[in-house]
Amino acid sequence: MTRMVRINRDRLWASLMELKQIGAYHDQATGLRGVRRLALTDADAQARRRCVDWMLQAGLEVRVDRIGNVYATRPGRDRSLPCVLMGSHIDTVATGGAFDGTLGVLGGIEVMRTLNDAGIQTLRDIEVGFFTEEEGVRFGTDMLGSAVTAGRIPLEVARKLTDEAGKTVGDELIRIGFDGEAHERRPVPHAYLECHIEQGPILAGAGVDIGIVEGVQSISWQRLTIHGEAAHAGTTPIASRHDAGLAAASVVVEARRMCDSSDFGQLRATVGNLGIGGGQTNVIPRQATLTIDLRNPADDLMTAAEQHLASYAGELAAQHGVRIAWERMAKTAVVPFHPGIQDLLAATADDLGLPYVRVMSGAGHDAQEIAAICPTAMVFVAGENGGISHTPREYSSPGACANGTDVLANAVLRLADQP
Ligand code: GLV
Ligand code: MN
Ligand code: MN
Repeated sequence: MTRMVRINRDRLWASLMELKQIGAYHDQATGLRGVRRLALTDADAQARRRCVDWMLQAGLEVRVDRIGNVYATRPGRDRSLPCVLMGSHIDTVATGGAFDGTLGVLGGIEVMRTLNDAGIQTLRDIEVGFFTEEEGVRFGTDMLGSAVTAGRIPLEVARKLTDEAGKTVGDELIRIGFDGEAHERRPVPHAYLECHIEQGPILAGAGVDIGIVEGVQSISWQRLTIHGEAAHAGTTPIASRHDAGLAAASVVVEARRMCDSSDFGQLRATVGNLGIGGGQTNVIPRQATLTIDLRNPADDLMTAAEQHLASYAGELAAQHGVRIAWERMAKTAVVPFHPGIQDLLAATADDLGLPYVRVMSGAGHDAQEIAAICPTAMVFVAGENGGISHTPREYSSPGACANGTDVLANAVLRLADQP
């Protein structure tokens, strides 16, 4: 008979509510208190220290690696066996909420506390970790810490990435005291599990708290810089202009048209950054920059979308006499999760009496990187307000968070007792 545990719901919720105080800000747009904890800022450092304190209080062995990922170990009976790893991230976007990433980390710490309370010893070590710069908002590349761990991004490349002020990842790690000594290519785990809020409407629509995640869709981030020519707004004939702002606006509209067409499957395209250099009412914009975030659950249709955008930009450049430079920020292919681990999560949810649906992830996650090195899957937790996320309106109920963490705890327990 498999051992079953239940996490301490109030303790998990108290931890979530405590961590959201770190980096709290007043959000003008919603009138709510949000969380702004960009990677490797002072707020992130403070939240990291709080998590490390909780890890130490749970009797865990803590180590930090050279990209600032933090791992905490609960020893098993046979320390020569690969561990079972849980994790996620505690950095947020600039307009974040209390649950994105944080649930998986504080949930993992709660799993450790629960096992301690129950006096359970496992065969394998269990670890809980958090990865550096999952959001990619500050240094421009998402899933940074986990991508370095999985070997997709070299450590030295990652450490040289800069934020808008020119500060590097490496210098910021040193400054906040998280430039660790452990090797960034961590030992390969037996399995990796990540519990995360869904950040979408599917679970709530199905009336369940739990999602078993089948995989993550492809993600493409690019930055375009459009070089035109400044000239007088009143005197320059329309046909003689090289208007960088107009070209940028055309890209935004085309990105939406692509989503509305049937040519690129379930493409989602977002221009979340749009800047027009100069910013003078009576001067034709000389330069414009924008970022394009593309998501697609089919790799071939993602490639088709990228190729279409490139050729569209080529036409725009010819039409308006502007020059367009492309910079690749991030790109990941579709990542399917391990069928056996998905089934183990599903069986665990069944045993807990928790209904679930199987879903594909719309958002990117550290799990998509760690999937390259070991069997991996994710548990999703339903959100309210249509699952809205990356805004302070993000909210998952105490019950949903606890149910997801119960699935995590019991799945980890099963994996950690596998010989
Ligand atoms: C991560 O939050 C993403 O952008 O999907
Ligand atoms: Mn996240
Ligand atoms: Mn996020």
